[in-house]
Amino acid sequence: MSTAVPVRLGDRSYDVLVGPGVRTSLAEVIRRLGARRAVVVSARPKEWVPDTGVDTLLLPARDGEQDKTMSTVEALCGEFVRFGLTRSDVVVSCGGGTTTDVVGLAAALYHRGVAVIHLPTSLLAQVDASVGGKTAVNLPAGKNLVGAFWQPSAVLCDTDYLSTLPRRELLNGLGEIARCHFIGAPDLRGLSLPEQIAASVTLKAGIVAVDERDSGMRHLLNYGHTLGHALEIATDFALRHGEAVAIGTIFAGRLAGALGRIDQSRVDEHVDVVRHYGLPIALPAGVDPAVLVRQMHRDKKAITGLGFVLDGPAGAELVSDVPEDVVARVLDEMPRARLDELVGAATMDVALI
Ligand code: GLY
Repeated sequence: MSTAVPVRLGDRSYDVLVGPGVRTSLAEVIRRLGARRAVVVSARPKEWVPDTGVDTLLLPARDGEQDKTMSTVEALCGEFVRFGLTRSDVVVSCGGGTTTDVVGLAAALYHRGVAVIHLPTSLLAQVDASVGGKTAVNLPAGKNLVGAFWQPSAVLCDTDYLSTLPRRELLNGLGEIARCHFIGAPDLRGLSLPEQIAASVTLKAGIVAVDERDSGMRHLLNYGHTLGHALEIATDFALRHGEAVAIGTIFAGRLAGALGRIDQSRVDEHVDVVRHYGLPIALPAGVDPAVLVRQMHRDKKAITGLGFVLDGPAGAELVSDVPEDVVARVLDEMPRARLDELVGAATMDVALI
């Protein structure tokens, strides 16, 4: 059974289809768009790419930060020209979040914008990256520094793609599902994975409909991410994004508790939820808290002082100017574990499909 989650953005509205086999809707979606040609950019084997129903060029891609560059975007656009892709045709991405990002940006720029359909194949891309229209590539100076908001025409989250994912790759996406618990989703524990994906996408779709350009409410999606990003950098990406966000979620709960915004039972709920997903709850032992604090000052949300999305009596919100001494104390009080224990001991008790 599949679920259609609408992303309501006026004449740019679209559906995110979630469920087993939904990739086979691709030809119908393309037919409705009226496109006569498609370029499919895929980081997965060609058997994973469904029939488009139109004249198609299939281009190989690689997931990963190494190809998330302007030169990849330029190369893709060159292929679009050679194939004769017009503004009324369509581009399709198939792969993880780095592929949907780079292909989305190429679609945003080609002929000043051509329709794009995402077929996210990782859990992280299904619950977050492919939905909401953020596209970006890296510069030598940093990640995601060049990008555009370019909404897809449809997103097909085929949960059959997930059955081959390595355990750590699944955990990567579960970190984003876990944080939904604290930014307005109902308790998702106990639901099947496709139901949890649909619920996470529903939450994100509602937020994007209100704040497409990330000027306020959309910051909520970064729950746990301020420390999470700092941990990814401090561990040289030995911690995967979802693992780092999970630890950041524990920290966000403790920080909200220390600031008197939530009571101890809600702080403990952060541990219960993150543990439920088999994700780590401790800081890696070798990481210096002072390095984390320095890194968190560079966070995009830190317009004045240290900024965090924190839970509170009225729900989660962005809190600026959080006193550095409180942040340092909460970091000091966090449990510690060796990095290999953090990423090795994880267990999942989510029913897979
Ligand atoms: N990944 C967060 C957002 O789409 O805003």
